[in-house]
Amino acid sequence: MAESSRRSFIRNVTALSAVAAAKCGVAMTPGEQKAHDKYNAMVIPRPEGLLDGEPALQVPAPDSMGVAFAVTALANGFVELADNPEMRSPRMFMAEGMPLAAIDDRVLRVRLTGLRPGTRYWYRAGAAKLEHPVGYWTKPSETVWGAVHSFVTLGESAPSHFAMMCDTHADFPQMARITRLYRELGVPLVVWNGDVPNSRMDTKEDLVRNYLVPPENDGYAADTPIVLNRGNHDFRGVAANRLGEVMMTRRPEERKMRDVALDRNFAFRMGDVALIGLDTGEDKPDFHPANGGFSCFTRYRKAQTVWLKDQFMRPEIAKAPYIVAFVHIPMLELWPGANPGTILDDYATWQKECAELWGPVLTANGVQLVLAGHIHQYRYDAPDATRSWAEITGGGYGRSTFQTLVECKVDGGGLLVRVHNTDAGTVVGEHRFKPRS
Ligand SMILES: [Fe+2]
Ligand SMILES: [Fe+2]
Repeated sequence: MAESSRRSFIRNVTALSAVAAAKCGVAMTPGEQKAHDKYNAMVIPRPEGLLDGEPALQVPAPDSMGVAFAVTALANGFVELADNPEMRSPRMFMAEGMPLAAIDDRVLRVRLTGLRPGTRYWYRAGAAKLEHPVGYWTKPSETVWGAVHSFVTLGESAPSHFAMMCDTHADFPQMARITRLYRELGVPLVVWNGDVPNSRMDTKEDLVRNYLVPPENDGYAADTPIVLNRGNHDFRGVAANRLGEVMMTRRPEERKMRDVALDRNFAFRMGDVALIGLDTGEDKPDFHPANGGFSCFTRYRKAQTVWLKDQFMRPEIAKAPYIVAFVHIPMLELWPGANPGTILDDYATWQKECAELWGPVLTANGVQLVLAGHIHQYRYDAPDATRSWAEITGGGYGRSTFQTLVECKVDGGGLLVRVHNTDAGTVVGEHRFKPRS
């Protein structure tokens, strides 16, 4: 470039810059330039050890999936999702939240949406550590990625196969026998039917240890989506109110505004079976001193009754060949005089309020089976002239005779329920159900 032309070029660029600055009013002050320089100069080392354990798939649906995972420092979370195990052409999802992603220093939650029902996907979770080089200005590290895992979405085209575990009560070696078995069996969905902790939960870390990264159970939900249905122990301690920070709630789109508080009730198809989740709540009445005067489980159970009736109006639920309902506390009076959960003495053996509110609705809609926990003992009660549904309770911790995994699968002969004794590695019961008429 000739010198005159060069001078002209510089003059024009300078003039353009001045015009631009005047128009936008964005001329950088020396102080701002210094901040930018400091921000850009900060090098964040690769954050080794940022991921704390494997991710946990949760709140599955036909068109969405939750992925939560633990981290060791303030970070943002990501999930790459693909329709092939090589992770070609992945879609990227970021930690849930708008306008701010829910960054956190312990648990990251990512919601995968726009999924196809009954479809296998592959995914990997990752996190980027966040630093603050200048005041509140936030700079992410490179993203560190975990291993590739896989899952199948729910829906009518999904396998008619799932299982229930319950009353694990933070007995992690015992829980490991259950989680190992359902992975060996290739069960595509597990309902964790309550009583996950064994004592009061006071801190978020209590929630992390009980639900998200239980010792000896790393990866328990990395390839097997978990549906959490709370039991009485899941409501104890101030941290119980913060469960959603660790175990995601269902999407608001899944329910009416009327049911906004019912963020863990579920009703979806898994192949030929409709699964319905109901929350029996605490095992003592609201007026019991243990509840401190701040619980309203009776109102909660009534609200779920209205929700429950609506679920049978949904075509995919109404026409399901099989319907299985999940509750934590049984709905049958298991023996004459068994504690109904409505008195000050001791604690509920069965939930009379739920039985009276929900039992007739289940019978009116031909529900064949209720799966429960709480009594820490495998038990089968057949349907009778007054109700359409059988009730099976799973075994559990403590005074239990043995721990169970209750596996449900549709084959040529109907819905087969197989009760595994996970302590002994044996099958202790089989029950068959015919399609609804
Ligand atoms: Fe229990
Ligand atoms: Fe319980």
